[in-house]
Amino acid sequence: MPSRAHAWTLRYLRLCGVALPLLLVLHATRGPTVREPAVSPTADDALHAVDATPARWRGFARRGRQLLRARDIFGKKETERRPRSRRSESRHLPAFETERRGSTVVRADATPENLRLLYAIMAYDRKQHIHLLTMLHSAVSMCEGGLRVTILLYTADSNPYTPKEREELQALCDSCTGRTGGTLALENIAVDAQLKFDATMQHRKEFLRRIDEYDLFVYSEDDVHIELRHIAAYVEASSHLARSEDGHKYVLGWQRLERNGIGLGAEHVMWENGVDNYHGVEVGGRLYATMVNPHAGAWMATRAELKAHHKQCRILHIPKTAGSFTRVRAGGWNLYMNCGRRKVLPVRNFQNFLVHHLPDKNWWQRSECAVAVPDLLAHFRGWNERYARGDRSMVCGRWWIPGDFCRDELQVVPAGERKKRFGIKGSCTVWRNRTSGEETITLPNEKMKRLAAIVQAREDAGSRAAKNLRVVASSGGDGRSISSRRFRGSMLRHGG
Ligand SMILES: *[C@@H]1O[C@H](CO)[C@@H](O)[C@H](O)[C@H]1NC(C)=O
Repeated sequence: MPSRAHAWTLRYLRLCGVALPLLLVLHATRGPTVREPAVSPTADDALHAVDATPARWRGFARRGRQLLRARDIFGKKETERRPRSRRSESRHLPAFETERRGSTVVRADATPENLRLLYAIMAYDRKQHIHLLTMLHSAVSMCEGGLRVTILLYTADSNPYTPKEREELQALCDSCTGRTGGTLALENIAVDAQLKFDATMQHRKEFLRRIDEYDLFVYSEDDVHIELRHIAAYVEASSHLARSEDGHKYVLGWQRLERNGIGLGAEHVMWENGVDNYHGVEVGGRLYATMVNPHAGAWMATRAELKAHHKQCRILHIPKTAGSFTRVRAGGWNLYMNCGRRKVLPVRNFQNFLVHHLPDKNWWQRSECAVAVPDLLAHFRGWNERYARGDRSMVCGRWWIPGDFCRDELQVVPAGERKKRFGIKGSCTVWRNRTSGEETITLPNEKMKRLAAIVQAREDAGSRAAKNLRVVASSGGDGRSISSRRFRGSMLRHGG
């Protein structure tokens, strides 16, 4: 029945004529997408056959613009393909240096722009190797995302890697397929163990020496989980600050969160700043948040930013400081507090500026008023909604203009005084209004305190129990198999 088939075909095509432009419009309003696969030829043909209205061409043009924007997410196109290898330094362990992949890598279309990232990690005593591995797994993801990454892994020379450990790390870096043009190189720099806390500053030398060879710079302690999403969010916000009038008064950074455990609150928590320790600032028509305690054990800068910081305060020189706070300075404090800027995080995508502090222990060891991240995010969503309606009550002012910044009037009561007068420990704050003398207390979070007590009790019980357990040495217990003829275990004997 040819006529009936014909009628059905017509009906089908009419349906497609309605549905496809609708789908296109829906697709176009989804916002920019990174690495969108190209429309397949067959789908494209179908579109041509069905609909040839101007709306369709507008849809295509919009889609094209989106793809172009997606290409721009990681900034400008680079001409140089990859960082040059450096093998001269004697303290670099040459066998451990991996330089990956020749120039045969074919770059897929619509990938990020293969920015070059110099990523320094301080793993002084290597006690957090398990966390370092998590970080390196994400470095592989950065490579797969198209970044050309060089990791400078700083360790103390008192505790070198074994050949087996080196092989393992090298194999991990080599596992990046590089299919979007990314690379992953690892250099181990063994520093003099006598440097102690000064070891955390050593990355500044390499950053300065190689400043023109990379586009992005990250320094991190060996337990902060930095992922590709953090880098992408940073690059986007950084370009917004660079375009904004007062952008040079601020510096972007991350804040740390931890997990309070399955079976406990099962939430992400933060312990370094309570909800009221964040104050809004307005930069270039966007809302950002600045905080009382800017420490995060990690920082990042683009090349342009790092050059500006270095010009402003010689940030890549190693200062003469001693003691444990040197580690905090190296971890970003100098940049956030001593370099003519203040640290901010964008409010609109705050969660992509929160990095996981992998040990998950500070919230219960160092704070009585840890705040649940969902509560903090809800607080910022409220800010966003009010800000969008024209409300500016959460904006605190410009910090560099005396009398303009709301926080100028507020003084944090020192920890010792706070503990003595209010019995409140940890990262919880008490504010004093310099003008009125009035004090505001960030109350300890009762739920977090209870959860912390549970974790503490488990920890204590665990270490008591561990004292009574001896580690049993077993032969051949490395998981390998042996021939059953050589096996003299009880299982086989009993089984006959
Ligand atoms: C500090 O106290 C003064 C005087 O009572 C008041 O006007 C001002 O708003 C207070 N500042 C803040 C930030 O609360």
